[in-house]
Amino acid sequence: MSACELRRATAADAGRILEIARACGLVIDVEAELARPHGRLWVGAARPGEEVAAVLSAWRVADELHVLDLGTAPGARRRGLAAALVARALEEAASEAAACAVLEVRATNSAARALYAKFGFTVARERSRYYDDGEDALEMVLWFDPRPPHSAPAEGAP
Ligand SMILES: CC(C)(COP(=O)(O)OP(=O)(O)OC[C@H]1O[C@@H](n2cnc3c(N)ncnc32)[C@H](O)[C@@H]1OP(=O)(O)O)[C@@H](O)C(=O)NCCC(=O)NCCS
Repeated sequence: MSACELRRATAADAGRILEIARACGLVIDVEAELARPHGRLWVGAARPGEEVAAVLSAWRVADELHVLDLGTAPGARRRGLAAALVARALEEAASEAAACAVLEVRATNSAARALYAKFGFTVARERSRYYDDGEDALEMVLWFDPRPPHSAPAEGAP
């Protein structure tokens, strides 16, 4: 989505973020995320000047980006807004020398899994019955460095 407008959220976005979060089944404490030094709260609108329709919440911790929440208002879905937010958050983390991005997703959330797979996220671990309702979680990871994390030892290494 080339025409969309992406930016860091401000306190003025809190009401709209809560509306989107509620519609998406997410819980986002906007005030707390804005106050955290490592918090990264992004919002997106389909076009400049339009109402915010998507939100991404992440933490930049050590050399990782933790994507915590991602949601697009139901009426604005399948227009590339979530993908644009993920791309922007990944770009920023990579430019800050993060090594990887990690996230958890419900095993049955095929929409989110398809989105993350498009960016190259792969399932690193399955967490059985992780959620309160008994559903499994998938931990997904994307390495910014093309070398795998546990690559073969360098030549000459013990
Ligand atoms: C998952 C979610 C964030 C996707 O938002 P979106 O703005 O509609 O996503 P995009 O338009 O950027 O989609 C990008 C790609 O993701 C995949 N995708 C998105 N929605 C999909 C769906 N319903 N079914 C299958 N694939 C889907 C597709 O590959 C899509 O590319 P395409 O449209 O070219 O096929 C949105 O459905 C949502 O808010 N769901 C509820 C909250 C949620 O599950 N969040 C994720 C928690 S980890």
